[in-house]
Amino acid sequence: MQADNNRQNKQTIAKASPHSDPGLYVLVLENIDRAVIALGQSGRVTLFNPAAESFMERSARNSIGEDYQNLFCGQETFLYLIKQALEQGRSITDDEGIFLVRAKSPPLPVNVYVAPIFSKRGNQDGAVLIIRDLSRVKELEETLRRVDRLSMLGTLAAGLAHEIKNPLGGIKGAAQLLEMELSNEPSLSDYTQVMIREAERINGIIEELMDLASPRPVEFTDVNLARILGDIVLLQKEASRGKNIKFILDLDPSIPPIQGDENLLTRLFLNLVKNARESIQRDGEVRLKTKISSEYHLTSPGSRPSPMVLVKISDNGCGIPAEEVERVFTPYFTTKAKGTGLGLAISQKVVEDHRGFLKIVSTEHEGTEITISLPLRQ
Ligand SMILES: Nc1ncnc2c1ncn2[C@@H]1O[C@H](COP(=O)(O)OP(=O)(O)OP(=O)(O)O)[C@@H](O)[C@H]1O
Ligand SMILES: [Mg+2]
Repeated sequence: MQADNNRQNKQTIAKASPHSDPGLYVLVLENIDRAVIALGQSGRVTLFNPAAESFMERSARNSIGEDYQNLFCGQETFLYLIKQALEQGRSITDDEGIFLVRAKSPPLPVNVYVAPIFSKRGNQDGAVLIIRDLSRVKELEETLRRVDRLSMLGTLAAGLAHEIKNPLGGIKGAAQLLEMELSNEPSLSDYTQVMIREAERINGIIEELMDLASPRPVEFTDVNLARILGDIVLLQKEASRGKNIKFILDLDPSIPPIQGDENLLTRLFLNLVKNARESIQRDGEVRLKTKISSEYHLTSPGSRPSPMVLVKISDNGCGIPAEEVERVFTPYFTTKAKGTGLGLAISQKVVEDHRGFLKIVSTEHEGTEITISLPLRQ
């Protein structure tokens, strides 16, 4: 937390600022993506911009004239910061683990700046609160942590995988020779077949792991997402016989082909839809939704910003316990008898390779929603 007592400075700025068009101030406040809330010296709200309405999930009409202690009832950090600004004339910023509690949605991680407002004569006349939504920053930090963990584990595992592959080849070769020797003793060749099959299975796991660890060049072509998702649903419907799972495709037909690696993207969405299907015990719903996001992103420094395509895969299956959500991306973490635990680790990597984002929201016993954002252009 940092505080400063800079009345002097503020007064100078107020005097020196040109008389710009007040309409421009209004437009700036209406379009800025930070909540701006002004309070009179009595602590009542005098200004509540549209971003404040959206962050706090309440209308300006309901908020103007309200005492800040009611507005932030129970939110000690906010109450303390505002009190400091109003009573001590201090401007303070704080971004260490502050959450804004909202009416309907979960708490929002935010950064808060509070400053006293001075009138033209230099008297303090209230305070202004500026709140910045940090959820995107937190998501990026989380992704970076995941990627770090993956690359460390990947390097280690790739070394080990190399070491295992050679002796494994030897075992398989010996089992094949043995099988030839035992060709006229069918009861024994059952055993050699198990040896060969299991050696092949280990080999498959190792290859998958090496794939994950070594960066494979991504081949970008135009990819029709709707077709990939349609094909995956067709296959997964087949695989979910015996259960009563409804697959719902809600695809925006206006999305043009995106630039991506078709094989990798197929693998990504197959992993996610398969997980969704497997999370449902008997009856349930898996929904695949695509849309274009209103935000643009820079895919690399200096490049043109690209629109993002969002693919949401949600299920009403078993969900993930809160303490497990971060671990599901760790290679080999699985809760399934026949799972490898590599599905989500691979998915995370494919999303990284496409310079996209992966977000997971899950509630135990209710379901899971995974949102993938991919740039339309690379
Ligand atoms: N949609 C989901 N609903 C509930 N749990 C999930 C979901 N997706 C993933 N999980 C949890 O995350 C774990 C890891 O998933 P991941 O796809 O990486 O491996 P897996 O599904 O166990 O194995 P594999 O993908 O090889 O079949 C799963 O075992 C499961 O516990
Ligand atoms: Mg899986």
